[in-house]
Amino acid sequence: MKRIAFLASGRGSNFQAVIDSMVRGEVPAECSGLITDNPRAYAVNRAEKAGIPVYIVDYSAYPSKDAYEADLLAAMTKCDADLFILAGYMRIVGAGIVQAFPGRIINIHPALLPSFPGLHAQRQAIDYGVKVSGCTVHFVDEHMDNGPIIIQAAVPVIEGDDEETLAERILVQEHRCLPEAVRLFCQGRLQIVDRRVQRRPDR
Ligand code: GRF
Repeated sequence: MKRIAFLASGRGSNFQAVIDSMVRGEVPAECSGLITDNPRAYAVNRAEKAGIPVYIVDYSAYPSKDAYEADLLAAMTKCDADLFILAGYMRIVGAGIVQAFPGRIINIHPALLPSFPGLHAQRQAIDYGVKVSGCTVHFVDEHMDNGPIIIQAAVPVIEGDDEETLAERILVQEHRCLPEAVRLFCQGRLQIVDRRVQRRPDR
C-alpha cells in the first residue's frame, strides 16, 4: 500500500476529500502526515480528527525561505511518503524539494493551466472574461503551476459570477479530480513521458 502525505496552508477541503475517499476504500493508500506552514490552518483540525500525524513548520518563525525549506524537507522525509500532495499549499516549493522527490509531488490548481497560474486564479479568469474555467491536477516541477498535467475538469463561467461563486463551482470538481489523481498514482497507473502524463489501463 502506498503512503501519501499532504502539504496544506488553510481550509483543507481538498485534503478532506482525499482522506474521505480513502475511508470509502476508493484510494489504496495510507496517510502518513499533514504538513503545514500555518499553525492556524483548519486542515490541522481535520488531520487531528482523522488521527493523522501533524507536522507544523511555521513559516513565520524562520529567518529565510532556505531555513524554512530545510525543516520542511526534514518533515517530508519523516513522513516517508511515496506521494506528497499540495492541497492548498500557498507557497512555491523550492527546487531542492522538487529534486528530492522527483515525480512524487502533485498540486491542485483552480484554473485550466496553462491559463491563470499563480494566486487568485478564479479572479484572473473572471477578469479575463473566459467562458470556461476549471481545475488542474499536475505533477510539480521547478516552475510554478507548470508540471505535467494529470487531470483537468472544466466548469462554465456564468454571467454574474464573482470570484466566490466561480471558486465554489470549481471546488466541486477539485474534490472529484484530486482523489482520482491520487488513486491513479497509488495504483501505479501514471507515467510521465516528456511533459505528458500517460495513463496505463487498470490491471
Ligand atoms: C483550492 O482552490 C486549491 O485549488 C487552491 O487552494 C484552494 C485550497 O482549498 N490551490 P482547500 O484548502 O483545499 O479547501
